[in-house]
Amino acid sequence: MNVLGIETTCDETAASIVMPGEDGRGRILSNEVLSQIAEHAAYGGVVPEIAARAHVEVLDRLVARALDTAGMTLSQVDGIAVAAGPGLIGGVLIGLVTAKTLSLVARKPLIAVNHLEAHALTARLTDGIGFPYLLLLASGGHTQLVAVKGVGDYVRLGTTVDDAIGEAFDKVAKLLGLGYPGGPEVERMAETGNPERFALPRPMLGRREPNFSLSGLKTALRIEAERLAPLSGADVADLCASFQAAVVDVVVDRVRVALREFGSIAGHPTALVAAGGVAANGAIRRALTTQANEAGLTFVAPPLSLCGDNGAMIAWAGIERLRLGLVDDLTAPARARWPFAEAAAVA
Ligand code: KG4
Ligand code: ZN
Repeated sequence: MNVLGIETTCDETAASIVMPGEDGRGRILSNEVLSQIAEHAAYGGVVPEIAARAHVEVLDRLVARALDTAGMTLSQVDGIAVAAGPGLIGGVLIGLVTAKTLSLVARKPLIAVNHLEAHALTARLTDGIGFPYLLLLASGGHTQLVAVKGVGDYVRLGTTVDDAIGEAFDKVAKLLGLGYPGGPEVERMAETGNPERFALPRPMLGRREPNFSLSGLKTALRIEAERLAPLSGADVADLCASFQAAVVDVVVDRVRVALREFGSIAGHPTALVAAGGVAANGAIRRALTTQANEAGLTFVAPPLSLCGDNGAMIAWAGIERLRLGLVDDLTAPARARWPFAEAAAVA
């Protein structure tokens, strides 16, 4: 079974071919990603109209290249998976219309994949882990703790009440005059900084529900930065390190609470999993590795190339759904918003 995966929900245009491998993992035959970072950098964030145009310009070539690299033609794929949301609607439409056209012309099943579900299932593509597992899904637009019980069976234990973690990293970077996207820049600056120089708040620490709040932390950082301005290189590094340390403390605390709740909702977890762009953060990965080990769990996070948006995760989610007979037709809608996990019932 070979599945083509197409991703256009944000600022990466991506196409990939994946097939099921031995040992329950996936085998990535090609994984083409074209980032639009350069096109958006001048604006300090993703401009939806620019993103949509850039997807149109490159997507068909990228699909051809993904097939080429995998050494196959469209007639040899068994399904066409596409991220049908959530995301910027212009980009989502371009991916979806392209996938529908290919599906119609080549007479292949269409699988409309939820982009967040694809992040959630990436740990099975890379590590072949079984259900259920606890997932920290943290990207530029989403921060959720989810009990992943099966394909299509997701219980949301907690979420953010304001900013997503990636969004907070991006805003902090912008405030400190660092580049876009902010996460990698803040992480790089934090490496040389003193994480103890600024006593920033740890919002939600100790709360009973595993929710997040990032906006107070971001505001506290802004106040410190304004107090110190103009900022030296060392100030920026210390602010980044202090911010990242606060985020790590909050993440570990929230995951601890989610792990406590997990048992009654889904039983014993097979692993602690991180996914989404923020899962690329080394400090967060290290802290979660320690935490998982202490809880007797393995920690699984995708390799850096699969943390950010990519086509392989869409193709893999397509494989998971196709195996269960979950296919879509040409009426599948493009969705700007598309929650993928049901909120946990309040006990
Ligand atoms: O999953 P993703 O590629 O796109 C979305 O669906 O949002 O995530 C992008 C987000 C951005 O906010 C980016 O700043 C953040 O992930 N990010 C990071 C790191 N690398 C990317 N945040 C913290 N540390 C990083 N190393
Ligand atoms: Zn994403």
